[in-house]
Amino acid sequence: MEDSSLFQMPLAEVMSTQRAIRKVDPDRPIDDAILLKLIEFGTRAPSSMNKQSWEFIIVKDPTVKAKLGSQNRFMWNRVKGIMTRKAEKDPQFAKVNSATQWGVDHFENYPGMIVACFQGPRLAYPPVVGASVYGSILPSVQNILLAARSIDLGATFTTMPLWSNWRARRILGLPWSITPCVLITLGWPQGKYGPTSRKPVGEVTSLDQYGNRPWKT
Ligand SMILES: Cc1cc2nc3c(=O)[nH]c(=O)nc-3n(C[C@H](O)[C@H](O)[C@H](O)COP(=O)(O)O)c2cc1C
Repeated sequence: MEDSSLFQMPLAEVMSTQRAIRKVDPDRPIDDAILLKLIEFGTRAPSSMNKQSWEFIIVKDPTVKAKLGSQNRFMWNRVKGIMTRKAEKDPQFAKVNSATQWGVDHFENYPGMIVACFQGPRLAYPPVVGASVYGSILPSVQNILLAARSIDLGATFTTMPLWSNWRARRILGLPWSITPCVLITLGWPQGKYGPTSRKPVGEVTSLDQYGNRPWKT
């Protein structure tokens, strides 16, 4: 895709405005060229030893979407009670909850879905292997989220539809050697989205020793 007007948003703006967009227009499709360009940006990310051990599945088939949607709903129904109790004490959490519920209810209608997978064994030991496995796929996912944001395409990072790797593998026809990690839902946003709410930098940054927070105001 060579439309030079696309993907031109300044990086700082992209990074500071990217957020989970769940309410999208179900009837407005996303061109394959855009989906492939997003994945191409994904493949520009770092990976352990530059092994580029990723595999991306674009999901279009309504039957496959329905099966993933049912997995998503299954997991959400298991955790919803805990989330609802948490939301009673935290209005911010309540917002995430109701947005997540919306995403679960309308999952099958997302015009675009990309499942980002890791290729290779996922050993349990030593602990750094975990960092190397997920560290080899999550930067590519973030690139895709940022690239989507830069063209005003809504995207959400989701894991619940893949809660059972075993089931997700069966649904997507993945061999055992491939681990589905993140499902990104995509679509053109409906309505307006405000800014993200994030903790101030000074609250999450220490100097030299954990808890020494000179930048906290
Ligand atoms: C590891 C991880 C797992 C997530 N899983 C889900 C999910 O299964 N379903 C969902 O709707 N959102 C999921 N999210 C999206 C988060 O809820 C969202 O990024 C967060 O609430 C911030 O939203 P905001 O960017 O709109 O402020 C996940 C995000 C991350 C990083």
